[in-house]
Amino acid sequence: MNVLVVGGGGREHALCWKIAASPLCDTLYCAPGNAGIAANAECVAIDADDVEGLVAFATDYAIDFVVVGPEAPLVAGLVDRLSEGGIKAFGPTAAAAMLEGSKGFLKDLCASYGIPTADYGRFVDAGSAKSFVREAGAPIVIKADGLAAGKGVIIAKTVTEAEATIDAIMVDRVLGAAGQALVIEELLEGEEASFFALVDGETVLPLAWAQDHKRAFDGDRGPNTGGMGAYSPVPEISRQLEAEVLSDIVRPTVRAMKEQGHPYKGVLYAGLMLTADGPKLLEYNVRFGDPECQVLCLRLISDLLPALIATCDGVLSTMDLRWTEQPALTVVMATKGYPGAYRKGSEIRGLEAAAEQPDVMIFHAGTTTGPDGGLLANGGRVLDVTATGPTMAEARARAYAAADRIDWPEGFYRRDIGA
Ligand code: AMP
Ligand code: GLY
Repeated sequence: MNVLVVGGGGREHALCWKIAASPLCDTLYCAPGNAGIAANAECVAIDADDVEGLVAFATDYAIDFVVVGPEAPLVAGLVDRLSEGGIKAFGPTAAAAMLEGSKGFLKDLCASYGIPTADYGRFVDAGSAKSFVREAGAPIVIKADGLAAGKGVIIAKTVTEAEATIDAIMVDRVLGAAGQALVIEELLEGEEASFFALVDGETVLPLAWAQDHKRAFDGDRGPNTGGMGAYSPVPEISRQLEAEVLSDIVRPTVRAMKEQGHPYKGVLYAGLMLTADGPKLLEYNVRFGDPECQVLCLRLISDLLPALIATCDGVLSTMDLRWTEQPALTVVMATKGYPGAYRKGSEIRGLEAAAEQPDVMIFHAGTTTGPDGGLLANGGRVLDVTATGPTMAEARARAYAAADRIDWPEGFYRRDIGA
């Protein structure tokens, strides 16, 4: 098969690494890819958001199967456009991607089908949103309806802060079109957990659990990021809890989407709050988590490619995935300044020596090759130093031993991933 992976981060590097190892894969392309992905796939200079460019490439290069990494092209209808051209693609249609693309859509679906989530209101004007928060009080959670690259959720500690947030999003449009509408919801308390499953429209095939660390600095301090590290499995998750998440949240969602005429196909990532009243849904993502995908790929023994194809073909009930018992952990190395402004182009040395450590895999999240062949940082999150071991402590020690060997003064990383 000729396979195309769409995206250029650590998630896509992990996907390319697994797919390249599949005996089903003849030629693997990645658009746009990065310097690390180039070891596993032929990188093509097409942006992940360039739907028309990707469709044209897939047609011209006789691509048999496309795997879409990030949410934006899914919400923009890349899978629909590829299917129209007769090209099989992994990921939901635009209509099904609304589970992530519109927080209001998701909340209304939960309300209609009795899926446990925070109580909420939907708003299209700042005035009624502000009356709602004055009535409800603080703390309260304010969410931009649309995709906002992880910046769309604000937990306001006071009513004044909530009102200012509403103005910033709806009047000043600091999040652009994502802020045309708002969801305002109750603050849930508890531990957060992430559940991943493949869904073929009907059958749900749970993957392993993985947890990320969202804050930039040690001790969960500093600004929110896309994720500064992750680990799998998650020891706190019992079989009973997984059964509850499946029966109360994930399966009803899959049934609801089918009933509404938009069967969900792809990977479904449920962000959950484990409250005193049981698990509640915070959000869905219609794609793999980044960096959660990296630890899942390291723990997956089975060939990933046939499972992704079975998801598209609606035959997931015939699939079974094997996972190693060994824990996996990833440490994200980011450019100083991330998630705020940062400089691109600093040189990274010592990667080969670091990668030679036993049971270590370094995925590239944002790198490029410099004019003299050196490795340059090319993003906020730059490297995902990932390791497995007989215990989580051992996986952790291996990942940090490798990260410590990387010579990159402009980078930083948390020291407490999985601690
Ligand atoms: P989301 O994009 O909806 O996952 O929100 C990002 C983060 O905001 C979540 O991972 C939670 O930490 C937090 N969050 C979102 N909604 C709530 C809520 N209703 N109560 C408490 N925390 C929330
Ligand atoms: N690591 C969080 C996410 O991928 O959304």
